[in-house]
Amino acid sequence: MTTEGRPNGNGGAGKPLHNPLGLLAELTHRCPLGCPYCSNPLEMDKRQSELDTATWARVFREAAGLGVLQVHLSGGEPASRRDLAGIMAAAREAGLYTNLITSGVGITDNRLNELADAGLDHVQISIQDSEQESADRIAGYEGAYVRKRALAAAVVALKLPLTVNIVIHRANIGRIDELVAMALDMGASRVEIAHVQYYGWALKNRASLMPTREQVVQAVGRIEPLRKQHRGRIVIDAVVPDYYARFPKPCVGGWGRRSLNVTPAGRVLPCHAAELIPGLEFWSVKSHSLREIWEQNPAFNAFRGTDFLPEPCRSCERREVDFGGCRCQAFALTGDARATDPVCHLSPHHHVVEEQAANRGDAGYIYRRL
Ligand code: SF4
Ligand code: FES
Repeated sequence: MTTEGRPNGNGGAGKPLHNPLGLLAELTHRCPLGCPYCSNPLEMDKRQSELDTATWARVFREAAGLGVLQVHLSGGEPASRRDLAGIMAAAREAGLYTNLITSGVGITDNRLNELADAGLDHVQISIQDSEQESADRIAGYEGAYVRKRALAAAVVALKLPLTVNIVIHRANIGRIDELVAMALDMGASRVEIAHVQYYGWALKNRASLMPTREQVVQAVGRIEPLRKQHRGRIVIDAVVPDYYARFPKPCVGGWGRRSLNVTPAGRVLPCHAAELIPGLEFWSVKSHSLREIWEQNPAFNAFRGTDFLPEPCRSCERREVDFGGCRCQAFALTGDARATDPVCHLSPHHHVVEEQAANRGDAGYIYRRL
């Protein structure tokens, strides 16, 4: 841990600053899919502004020097970068464990071999549903399902560990058993089942994506039996839908506590949605080292620890467990990024979440098109 040069720590003034363990490298915002819950920001970085290979290599060395162990190469679709293998090799050279997070569209067998040779350690493929037609409809891309399954097979053939990511919402939440069966069939050792996060583009589709309480109760009830049934074969990670939870999640493990994101153009963020919050200035790797940013950028210190939290968090025994929830969600739903995340049933704004959860519609998806 480092303690020097910082006004406010992870746990409050005077407390030691943790090292980050994971770095999400958003290599590009370009993506062939059009998912209605896209987590890219509304205003995307343009191709011309993307960091070059050499800058990413420096960022990875600085990250390793800061204590980062794992880099998630993500996007958009990271394979949209022609220099992905070079970037991968640089991450490996810096001594980082490399995880490729891909839509599965746009990586040929040759390219996958090239990435494996460059130091690829682990692959995460997102897939939209266990039924082909529905999966392609959600992705807004005909043929996506087949291509994702083909890439998964190639990953497994190379004996690379595979995680399948599934974003859950009203259209697929009734198929938890089938989704886990699909992940097993794909040869995954882990499946992540996480509900849509309603930020950015997903807010435009919230009414179309929102499941009913009955659907959520049923889906959540399937997780433990499936874990028992498949113990030793596949790890099932599940994130309960925010809008139906009693307590919020400790988003990104706490703001500026364990992880950081670097955008395609080089701005460094505590989480992928942080730029939604007005008044924060995020420094760039083009002008500062990662260590300077982690330790000194006021935007990272803005919500570190729990000292900033108002009541009811201030006197709540869970404040060191969930850090008052997600800052971006607090801002999106209350206009105040310091507020208790309204997902918490103790929040004075909790009614906003209940109202939005009840606001469902079938207007059809607004797809994300570049
Ligand atoms: Fe977490 Fe704050 Fe709710 Fe307590 S009041 S459970 S700290 S969000
Ligand atoms: Fe930003 Fe949760 S997404 S803190």
